[in-house]
Amino acid sequence: MLLRPTLHRGLPNANGNAPSQQSRAGVLNCELGMSKPFDIELERLTGQASYSEAFPGVDAGQRGTFFLETFGCQMNDHDSEKVASLLLSRGYRQAETPEAASLILYNTCSIREKAAQKVFSRLGEYRERQTEGKVIGVLGCVAQQEGEDIFKRAPWVSLVCGSASYSKLPEMLAQLEAGNQRVTGLDTDTDETFETEVTRRDNPWRAYLTIIEGCDKACSYCVVPFTRGPERSRASDSILREVRQLAELGYSEVQLLGQTVNSYADPTARKTRFSELLLAVADVEGIRRVRFTTSHPSDFTPDIVEAIGRELKICDHVHLPVQSGSTRVLRAMQRTYSREEYLEKIAMIRSAKRPIAITTDIIVGFPGERESEFEETLSLLDEVQYDSMFSFKYSPRPNTPSLSMSDSISEEEKGRRLAILQDKQREIQAAKNAKLVGERFEVLVSGKSRRENQWTGYTTAHRMINFASQESELLGTYVQVRVTGATPNSLVGEHVT
Ligand code: 5AD
Ligand code: SF4
Repeated sequence: MLLRPTLHRGLPNANGNAPSQQSRAGVLNCELGMSKPFDIELERLTGQASYSEAFPGVDAGQRGTFFLETFGCQMNDHDSEKVASLLLSRGYRQAETPEAASLILYNTCSIREKAAQKVFSRLGEYRERQTEGKVIGVLGCVAQQEGEDIFKRAPWVSLVCGSASYSKLPEMLAQLEAGNQRVTGLDTDTDETFETEVTRRDNPWRAYLTIIEGCDKACSYCVVPFTRGPERSRASDSILREVRQLAELGYSEVQLLGQTVNSYADPTARKTRFSELLLAVADVEGIRRVRFTTSHPSDFTPDIVEAIGRELKICDHVHLPVQSGSTRVLRAMQRTYSREEYLEKIAMIRSAKRPIAITTDIIVGFPGERESEFEETLSLLDEVQYDSMFSFKYSPRPNTPSLSMSDSISEEEKGRRLAILQDKQREIQAAKNAKLVGERFEVLVSGKSRRENQWTGYTTAHRMINFASQESELLGTYVQVRVTGATPNSLVGEHVT
């Protein structure tokens, strides 16, 4: 599944600079504190220099100004891009601070308890402030989960809208403009996907594109099926149309998104398979890299491996969350595969025509996880040799089946297991990365360091590399880099021609 509160930190900010915490990508206890205000230029998104060219007939700012802050995963990041485009096309202008905005929106995450708490603390900042004349809205997973209770906890909020209802946002905004005090969009039984005419994009080179929304799996710890609703796939022709537009706008890398992206089921008569879609996206002129995340092991089929082996533009990286190395715990998690079945998928990926990097997500301290079962997770790390891992302490969530299981492992013990797990993975990564010294990789340059002649970028396998180059302008270009050093979380290199 795809909720990666840390990965976007490795992406460049609006100025093309890589944020400071990017080097922590990899062995991570994905804790919070991360959120980002929406901040990008119009031209980068729409290809038009002025508002009037981008949105003919719409008066910029006629309806007010908005400030949008995103918490959580790439899916939320991308939803925020779409919400922003919708607001712009309706005559809202982007404000730089919440103080300057007439509409303040928080796109929220509730995957773990701390994420949800963060949203309420942010809303709490408004109690003291002057909210008169401002509309405050909560979008995303906390909105869906808490629903109208948000009005009770934070009466100054006037809009609550879950992600499955974003297509109704224009209607909801119209109601607010008409003087309605409170509006909600909380249906999840929609078969719609959220498509917008113009989609603002927060990264100048990598465009996210949601191909499947919601989730039909029922992992016992997970809120996503409740907060994002049932699985809905987007029509393949509409996806390809958007990819062509993106290529025309200058994007060379696309990342196809979905909680279970490889469960994609084309709703059109074409019935394009996920692997065929990957190949078709790679075939679009101007596209150089195709990424996809997150894959579910049960739906990971040989044709996907074959497509990656055959088409070099499809990135050699699969994010395949395992969650636990113990079959008993996997059953309790309702993960639909055993340790052995998961390892068969790994063997299938390893048998591809070219090496493919594999990364994962792991939860420690699931209710009833015995020490011996945790050790099975450790031995799985030894066996698979992941390139990177995101790890989490189990967090009981509302509505989920595992909520009724007693959360028997103490926070302290969860912390102990997490630290052991991360130490092991750090060792594995240190050894794996050290072996890459001397190799050459193609790197998409996405950041410039404050240190002179130092740049940052990603290889196709999504390895971060800091490298030296005498060139004066490399952002957004593809360069060859030779690896000269390695740390557990990143590589060091030099630009070669
Ligand atoms: N507690 C801890 N981690 C969780 N995840 C999902 N739900 C929970 C939870 N209740 C983790 C899973 C998932 C990742 C994005 O977040 O590992 O793959
Ligand atoms: Fe991923 Fe399972 Fe949650 Fe679906 S229910 S989003 S497959 S963890």
